[in-house]
Amino acid sequence: IPVDPFDLVVFGATGDLAKRKILPGLFHRFTVGQMPEDARVIGAARSDMDNTAFQALVRQSLLEFVPNADDLTAELDLFLSKLSYVCVDAKGTKGWDNLVSELRPDTIRAFYLSVTPSLFGAIAANMNAHGIATKDSRIVVEKPFGHDLASAKALNSELRRNFEESQIYRIDHYLGKETVQNLMALRFANSLWEPLWNSTHIDHVQITVAESLGVEGRGEYYDKSGAMRDMVQNHLMQLLCLTAMEPPSRLTPNAVRDEKVKVIEALEPVEQSDIVRGQYRGRDGEGSYRDHAGDPESLTESFVAMKVKVGNWRWSGTPFYLRTGKKLRARTSEIAVVFRDPPHMIFPALEGRRGNALIIRLQPDEGITLRTTIKEPGPGGMRLAEVSLDMTFAEALGADAEAQDAYERLIMDVIRGDQTLFMRGDEVEAAWAWADPIISGWEESRLAPARYDPGSSGPEDALMLMHREGRRWREIE
Ligand code: BG6
Repeated sequence: IPVDPFDLVVFGATGDLAKRKILPGLFHRFTVGQMPEDARVIGAARSDMDNTAFQALVRQSLLEFVPNADDLTAELDLFLSKLSYVCVDAKGTKGWDNLVSELRPDTIRAFYLSVTPSLFGAIAANMNAHGIATKDSRIVVEKPFGHDLASAKALNSELRRNFEESQIYRIDHYLGKETVQNLMALRFANSLWEPLWNSTHIDHVQITVAESLGVEGRGEYYDKSGAMRDMVQNHLMQLLCLTAMEPPSRLTPNAVRDEKVKVIEALEPVEQSDIVRGQYRGRDGEGSYRDHAGDPESLTESFVAMKVKVGNWRWSGTPFYLRTGKKLRARTSEIAVVFRDPPHMIFPALEGRRGNALIIRLQPDEGITLRTTIKEPGPGGMRLAEVSLDMTFAEALGADAEAQDAYERLIMDVIRGDQTLFMRGDEVEAAWAWADPIISGWEESRLAPARYDPGSSGPEDALMLMHREGRRWREIE
């Protein structure tokens, strides 16, 4: 279904995110017919260039980042014809009048700030000074949204000086992933799970976001951030919230986000003894984390695992284990909900096995697996085996499950004016309020993270985090 006509201004249009995600995403929406004929995309950045040069630049990125762009020349030409460019000085006055003249009246306006957060305030103020933000214009901002609570609050107040909360779209691209939304469908569109979705029936939850790549090329940014700020405070926190939240009263942005905030606020402070930090070594000529970060003494973590407790009625007694890292064995992300043993076990061999688990896979093969215990068929008595009921969305739903990148979905939601999959200001602040003491504890102690081998599952100590409680991480594979 096409969205309404829009003018989308991309600040930072020549940057990496625009090239890799925003413009390819828009192009894909265009090829599937969701972008209306008279939609327009206006690139805005510091470099001096004209429309033709910008279009050539975008053509190059699309050919590089859209797998079948070569076969889509006609569509590509048409898409590029919707693009224009304005050279704008975010902090100064240059170019703003030109931008004003690019925008059409009575058309949805969205402004995507794909720039460093230190420019958010200046851009928002300039937009207001030039009267280009109408009352229902949307402003989209990227992560990182602050690096601690104080900076997130400062960013929020800068944005709110010029925009209403209902106009601000804070992106966490994990919320645009298919399976993440499916988590809501799975929980709230079925009657099967919800009665079991509590500490009476669930032993623990494991959330893993493992990556096989290192921080090559991004070392400078990453070293100031680390896995905690880069992944846990935002992406893993969102996965935790969607898994743990109460059913919202309706599917409206604020009803959903209210419930997520409650989860974050219910998180108990994490003991340092419940956290393992890691940093990858070098191997076989491949650089170590410290080589990639350009700091031979860096204490930044490229891996973190922790036990988190949600202190509320539903979850008391059911820990959530979070784990994420770079240079691990595989790129795999999943949420595993591990159920308790039956209250009375008549199969002694199964004692303590926790044979039931629901695994929600985010990537690579999005889908759901239900691990159950059955009797092995045939003679030989009551021999039991664990089997998986497996559903991969692509197989089950075929072409309908056609890949849609998280960014594409989120950009279209911005145009529709649907904030459900975006973080509200108080949500981001609550997540920082939880993360800050953990990070400052590390900064004070200056303890070096444990080293781990590239291609492994992270430091040995991370395994111990669960072993010591008679539990086991699922394999990263
Ligand atoms: C980004 C992080 O937000 O998410 C990166 O900054 C990380 O470090 C990326 O690699 C992971 O996203 P995805 O979609 O590839 O799992």
